[in-house]
This record gives sequence, structure tokens and C-alpha cells, in this order.
Amino acid sequence: MISLVFATNNLHKLREIREITGNAISVVSLGDIGLDAEIPETQDTIEGNARQKARFIFEQTGMDCFADDTGLEILALNGRPGVYSARYAGEGCSFTDNVKKVLEELQGIEDRRASFRCAICLVYKGNEYLFEGRVDGDITIAPSGTDGFGYDPVFRPEGMKETFAQMPAYLKNGLSHRGRAVHKMLQYLSMLQ
Ligand code: IMP
Repeated sequence: MISLVFATNNLHKLREIREITGNAISVVSLGDIGLDAEIPETQDTIEGNARQKARFIFEQTGMDCFADDTGLEILALNGRPGVYSARYAGEGCSFTDNVKKVLEELQGIEDRRASFRCAICLVYKGNEYLFEGRVDGDITIAPSGTDGFGYDPVFRPEGMKETFAQMPAYLKNGLSHRGRAVHKMLQYLSMLQ
């Protein structure tokens, strides 16, 4: 079975990635290999950040690995928070601070269309591959639901009544930006076998 180190310190993402990949590959965490590292993320695109994170872990470990980077792009905010989604409300901010800022900026705005875009960079046998997943939807008026993380309580995917935070994991993963990008990576890996 292919084994890949997942370049993240975000335990929500680790759990989600393991739920998505199931038994298809073995996802090794940084904790599993005893690597305590601050992973750089200083690029101005999600693709650039995914590549920077995966390259960093490859250089540290020499192991096959992958990283993801996600941005929430809101049409009425000209694509913000985008690549700055993690620290939108400022350095050291919480998920709740970010959600609050987005809701404040959208106050009184009717067109609430938004997309999550996820870029995954895989480094496999020293070669780099990029995969993208996207889901369209809109930003709700107020947060709903307690599952998931980040902007999940205010993101409702197209055609659904619930936010990501109101859905069981399998449903979010079946629709989500990350689920779609990971499935592309798994498909590619199965062709390399
Ligand atoms: P990054 O990919 O770690 O840079 O994530 C950027 C920001 O988007 C962070 O604030 C995350 O919490 C948020 N985020 C990433 N993935 C998701 C998701 O699947 N749902 C909701 N928020 C997310």
C-alpha cells in the first residue's frame, strides 16, 4: 500500500483526509514520524502554498508526501479571503473570528455566492503533481451546525439546505473541495501502480 506523509499540523484536516482516503492509501501524520515543524506558508496562491508545504516536508524527510491549501473565495468580496483565509481576522485569530469578519463584511449584501478551492501538491518519488478541487455554494446569514471546522458553519454547498457544519462527515467529504482534490490524487496514484 502507498504510504504518504500529510504535511499539516491541522488535526481537523488530518481526520478529514483519513476519512476520505479510507483504505486506499496509508496517511502518515507528522506526529507519527516525530516531526515537530513549523511549516512555511508564505506564497500568494493556494497552489504555491500547497507546493511550498509539500516541498518543505519532502526536504526534511525524503518521504513521499502531500500538502493541501484551501481558500474561501467570496464573489462580493472580490475573491477574499482567498489565500488569506486562515488569518483573515488577523494573526492568531480563531475560526470564530474569521467567520464573524466574513459575516460583517457581507452584511446587507444579497449576492452571497462563494467557492472553496483546494490545491493539493503531491511529491511522489521526487516528482511533483498538483490537483485541484472546488465546490460552489453561498455564505449563510448566520452560522449553523457544530461539525467540521473553519468556515463550515457558514458555507452551504449548491443544491443543499445544510451548511457543511450541519452534515455528517461522509456527506461533506462527498461534496467538498478537499474530497474532490483527494479523489483526483487517489485516481492518479492508482494509475502509477
Ligand atoms: P489552510 O488550507 O490551512 O491554509 O486553510 C485556510 C483557512 O480555510 C483556514 O482558516 C481553515 O480553517 C479554512 N478551511 C480550510 N479547509 C476548510 C474546510 O474544509 N471547511 C471550512 N474551512 C476550511
